[in-house]
Amino acid sequence: MSKFIVAGGKPLRGKVKINGAKNSVLPIIAACLLADGKSIIDEVPNLEDVNVMCDILEAMGVAIKRDYKNRRLEIEVSEKVDTYAPYSLVSRLRASFLILGPILAREGRVTISMPGGCAIGTRPVDLHLKGFTAMGAEIQKDKGVLNAHVTGKLAGSVIYLDFPSVGATENILMASVLADGKTVIENAASEPEIADLAAFLNAMGAHINGAGTDTITIEGVKYLKGVRHTIIPDRIEAGTFMAAAAITGGDLVLENVVSGHLKPILAKLKECGMEISEELSTIHLKSPGRPEPIDIKTLPFPGFPTDMQAQISSVMSISTGTSIIIETIFENRFMHFGELKRMGAEVKVDGRSAVIEGKSKLTGAQVKATDLRAGAALVIAALAAEGSTEIDNIEHIDRGYVDMDKRLNSIGAGIHRVD
Ligand code: UD1
Repeated sequence: MSKFIVAGGKPLRGKVKINGAKNSVLPIIAACLLADGKSIIDEVPNLEDVNVMCDILEAMGVAIKRDYKNRRLEIEVSEKVDTYAPYSLVSRLRASFLILGPILAREGRVTISMPGGCAIGTRPVDLHLKGFTAMGAEIQKDKGVLNAHVTGKLAGSVIYLDFPSVGATENILMASVLADGKTVIENAASEPEIADLAAFLNAMGAHINGAGTDTITIEGVKYLKGVRHTIIPDRIEAGTFMAAAAITGGDLVLENVVSGHLKPILAKLKECGMEISEELSTIHLKSPGRPEPIDIKTLPFPGFPTDMQAQISSVMSISTGTSIIIETIFENRFMHFGELKRMGAEVKVDGRSAVIEGKSKLTGAQVKATDLRAGAALVIAALAAEGSTEIDNIEHIDRGYVDMDKRLNSIGAGIHRVD
């Protein structure tokens, strides 16, 4: 098990370039299954999750060239792809469930292991399946394995999602582009990553309107071709670096960002006193010292992202007052608080709400990352803490951040990785 040893108390200063978005590239890799020929994806972050998604497609018979030096993937899909994804593959990455829609649309059938729950919640897939059923698929589950097939082609349908699930919107969107007729996804997720996926599919020849809003309309087409596409910047990585600057009294310039995607995060950082100026693709954040307390309620986009809740909670642990954090998206996303308390944070958790009494300082301790964003939150807390913090289980952090230690060190942090 690898760990970070963080020497706290150093303000972050300098420039950081933000990578392509993990949550965009994963569905876009799955979407390559829909087209014949080669697709080239640029600005791909070299992350474990991306590698696992590539492994899964390769196991289905797809040829992939991983050129991380140039942040590029070349994905070539042959005429036939395998329609069986066993547990040994699917269990490595939840987002692998996103291959269901494309394979069902392309081959008319798919057998895939059900993804399990994970550290942050049970994460059901009922909304994905409701969508495929509405499009004419027959779905059977047996001993944790899901069999879906359709006679002929999937049929366009009007699908109302009970909740604007990101994954369900993406899976149904990918299935619908090759369906017969028109599909409308109502109460769709409107995250920027959905719009990026739709831009990729439209470049391939799909007819999608409204992606990025709560109603997406898709006119099915017969054929899609491979294309070249550049992934949007990772808004959660950008938010994480901004939180790190905010907690350390830093002064940071972020390059390769889309400030429109960061609105809910920027609004809250401004509310806690950060000085922020935005240009076309850069953001300058300056922290005047201890943050003021703010209240956060996580919501689907354009609300405050659940993927930034833990990192902002760390910032609030040294605020000048009382903050209330409400997590509405996942039922078990407060694991970081137990660890933050070991560093001196004062937090009371009641169900999906937490009350944080800001302290003037945190102190270094031995803690462990329980999931990706909880791990990022501990790094942020450690950067501001007095003394040294040892963070175990950093594999979780490596899943979603490229070289987090090296990049933070390049702007003044003191992080030592022990493998
Ligand atoms: C995606 C992101 C993840 C982010 C999350 C919410 C990727 C690879 N991951 O995950 O980082 O935290 O969006 O912004 O993009 N739900 C159901 N039934 C379903 C599907 C979801 O009840 O069929 C529930 C989930 O349990 C959860 C909520 O809906 O409580 C949101 O989940 P969803 O938006 O689907 O998240 P993911 O796509 O899994």
